[in-house]
Amino acid sequence: MDKLVVEGGAPLRGEVRVSGAKNAALPILCASLLTAEPLTLTNLPRLNDVRTMETLLSQMGAKSERIDGSAIVLDAAHIDWPLAPYELVKTMRASILALGPLLARCGEARVSLPGGCAIGLRPVDQHVKGLIAMGAQIDLDHGYINAHSTRLAGAKYVFDVVTVTGTENLMMAATLASGMTILENAAHEPEVVDLALCLNAMGARVTGAGSDRITIEGVERLHAATHAIMPDRIETGTFVAAAAAAGDDVAIIGARPDTLEAVRDKLAEAGADIASDNSTIRVRRAKPLRCANIRTAPYPSFPTDMQAQFMALATIADGTSVITETIFENRMMHVQELRRMGAAIEVEGNTAIVKGVGALTGANVMATDLRASACLVIAGLIADGMTTIDRIYHLDRGYERIEEKLSALGARISRIK
Ligand code: EPU
Repeated sequence: MDKLVVEGGAPLRGEVRVSGAKNAALPILCASLLTAEPLTLTNLPRLNDVRTMETLLSQMGAKSERIDGSAIVLDAAHIDWPLAPYELVKTMRASILALGPLLARCGEARVSLPGGCAIGLRPVDQHVKGLIAMGAQIDLDHGYINAHSTRLAGAKYVFDVVTVTGTENLMMAATLASGMTILENAAHEPEVVDLALCLNAMGARVTGAGSDRITIEGVERLHAATHAIMPDRIETGTFVAAAAAAGDDVAIIGARPDTLEAVRDKLAEAGADIASDNSTIRVRRAKPLRCANIRTAPYPSFPTDMQAQFMALATIADGTSVITETIFENRMMHVQELRRMGAAIEVEGNTAIVKGVGALTGANVMATDLRASACLVIAGLIADGMTTIDRIYHLDRGYERIEEKLSALGARISRIK
């Protein structure tokens, strides 16, 4: 199993380019199932989760052809097997995003129920209830969701909780339903907007994406389209946090600064000097870091996917930071590892109280999930001595060549096999 070795203390300097967004790419890859015509995607990140999604689509009968490293043509002219098997779903929960498109296009789908995962229980009841509201018959057997329907019918559905992939699944299903679907209490995340842009390029009629209320007027069929995946705001935020933590002058290019306001504000409050234009965020740090409190919440509030990275920074800030996780029940597993590096963190329920210490010390640590891995990389960059991070397959799911990008900025980081 690969590991990352990080020698702390090297300041970061230079430019780094952001890749396409994992959490936009995954639903958009599934959107290819909605049409018999080709969907061309550019700015597709090279990630293990993207490869897993391609495998899932190809097992169903869709064809994919890489044009170059970051562009792909998907062709789901024939769907032979509207099935997402447990073996793939257990490695990537986002496989649930195939449910809505398969049902809408094929009138049937069999998708394994994802189990709980490292960061929380993560049920999919909202996906299922929303499809039932649109006329689907759904039963559960042997750990699978079995869904059938004649043409889905537009419906009004009010989400009980704000769910990103739930919103995306129902939005995709509704594009081919008869009549109008109204999704209330929908997720506002920019990835939902990116999916809506792609669906509209395919001939769908989606309005309101990015707000509480999304309206989808169903059409008979969707057609070929080309779409560029939006830049990854969490990868961007991770580099902003790394630059704020390790210093000293980094330009993050090809980004969407407008999708990161809460993160930029908090890191500025913590002492980073942040300047942005349309597509670049420049981060400098001349003064010591200060404590800052965060509370994760749905977009546009501070994202849960940046909580762990922010905590790495808080470990060495002056004063005490209070970090509250409100989205997932179990997203504090990086705390134990940060403590092994000398951090002073107390956890009460879903709140971490982080008392800044002068410095962290390098240690052998274990990555437990994707963003926890990014947190440990940042901790390694600022720690005295060597940090070895084990189980970095989590990192490879969602960050494209992170060690190469950080090395180019001057970090002393390498992968060992
Ligand atoms: N929830 C329910 N019922 C549902 C769906 C969700 O109770 O049917 C709850 C969840 O248990 C959770 C909350 O609602 O407490 C929010 O979960 P959500 O459904 O929004 O999460 P998700 O769609 O499964 C996406 C991202 C995650 C990101 C979350 C929150 C993708 C592929 N994944 O997950 O990304 O943390 O939204 O923003 O878009 C990551 O990239 O590291 C990652 C975990």
